[in-house]
Amino acid sequence: MYIKLMKHLELSKEEMKAYGYKIVDVLAEHFDSLHTKDAVGHGNREEMDALFSEEMPYKATSANDVLDHVTKDVLSQVNLPSHPKFYSFVPGPSNFISAMSDSLATGFNIFSGSWSGSAAATKLEIISIHWLLKMFSFPIKTGGGIFTSGGSMANLTALATARSVKCGEDFSKACIYLSDQAHSSNIKAIRVLGFKKEQVRIIPTDMEFKMSINKLKNAIARDKLNGLQPFCILATAGATNTGSVDPLEAIATISKKENLWLHVDAAYGGGVILADAGKKLLTGIRKADSLTVDPHKWFFQPYEMGCLLVKNHKWLSKTFSEKPEYLRDVEGNKSEINFYDHGIQLTRRFRALKFYMSVKTFGLDAFKKGVQYSLKLTEDLEDLLRLSPHWEIISPATLAIINYRYNPINYKLSEKELDKLNEHISKKITESKKALLVTTILQDQVVLRMCLINPRTTIDDVKETINLCEDYAQKYLDEIFESPNTKL
Ligand SMILES: Cc1ncc(COP(=O)(O)O)c(C=O)c1O
Repeated sequence: MYIKLMKHLELSKEEMKAYGYKIVDVLAEHFDSLHTKDAVGHGNREEMDALFSEEMPYKATSANDVLDHVTKDVLSQVNLPSHPKFYSFVPGPSNFISAMSDSLATGFNIFSGSWSGSAAATKLEIISIHWLLKMFSFPIKTGGGIFTSGGSMANLTALATARSVKCGEDFSKACIYLSDQAHSSNIKAIRVLGFKKEQVRIIPTDMEFKMSINKLKNAIARDKLNGLQPFCILATAGATNTGSVDPLEAIATISKKENLWLHVDAAYGGGVILADAGKKLLTGIRKADSLTVDPHKWFFQPYEMGCLLVKNHKWLSKTFSEKPEYLRDVEGNKSEINFYDHGIQLTRRFRALKFYMSVKTFGLDAFKKGVQYSLKLTEDLEDLLRLSPHWEIISPATLAIINYRYNPINYKLSEKELDKLNEHISKKITESKKALLVTTILQDQVVLRMCLINPRTTIDDVKETINLCEDYAQKYLDEIFESPNTKL
């Protein structure tokens, strides 16, 4: 029975090669032709239902037919986060070496949960974590970390650790502090961990979208006076909306004085540490107790790869170690780390491989160039927009993110009208499929947000998109404001 089943799930060596080469061809073509493709692959529910609804496939279909169907109907109807004109959310530039490394890790189906499961895989994760610890000036001797599926899981793992170290079993009076610009994954993590709304303090940000130190101090003082237990400050280094970095030095001083855990969510912004200006832009980050940084963002790795770094690896093992009887034979000695003891997952894919192989292949200098290029590109765009009578910068180029809105100086438009106009521009751009440029809200204004971390994006790409925005905006204004009285 076993043999029969396996036989039916297996291909001959020649079939595997032919199939694999076909996939490599698809991927090579994809990476090579990104510039000529649409960035957006939106399809509505009815279209997707019509394409994919079918009975359960009990009978076999030829492997080539399935692959052709996927290439034609699936891969053509997805957004492309690696596309040079994918400007929204956090793009995923990725790279071919890592994509191939992921295939190796999956092909060998490597178990990265324990040392005995795969010693070399564990060692590569340790080495990669050490590189990251070094970059952020965390201590190599005591420090540690773990690769996760992404920033959300890294933040959850960090906050579980912070709670365990600072509060132990009873966290009924514990309070946590984060800004109104902190990423939503942190609120999710706080909820998952069982904190009540009343235990969360959302600290307002200043005009630059950075956590207000005065308001943070006030909140901690009040909670102490009320007999509560402040236990953790969560600072952001590279806010998703604006790229802003909270005043990390000042926050670290407060957390030290008040004996609070400092977690820094640098899931997005952490990559800037590679740039010459990075240490300055992230001043104070080395004082964090824990730090989230996502290789699948500005370290150019494909999904899914987040990372949590901690000052003391024992905090992780203290929080997550369980010793079930069925794992007693794989415990190993103390120097042989079992990553299942450092986080939530037991079975873990070999995420470190793509990081290790791509860093070694390209060299960190290439990564650094990519990050510096993005910083400069965003600054160039800011200069360009400031020279135009149509555009208003709402938050300037910061860690490769910029927010602006169409606000032509020869029209008198109310705030409501401006919001509608910019929503219209975003909708039309996305409908064109040429670029993905969605809005966000900053200080009650609808703005267009660009995140330019993809080194494939050129200034010409950005100019083309801005020109397209201007065309859509002008058409809209011409339709809405027929009367010249509304113009200045
Ligand atoms: C600052 C920040 N933290 C956390 C996350 C969540 O990361 P992920 O989507 O990898 O779970 C993001 C995602 O954009 C982010 O920008």
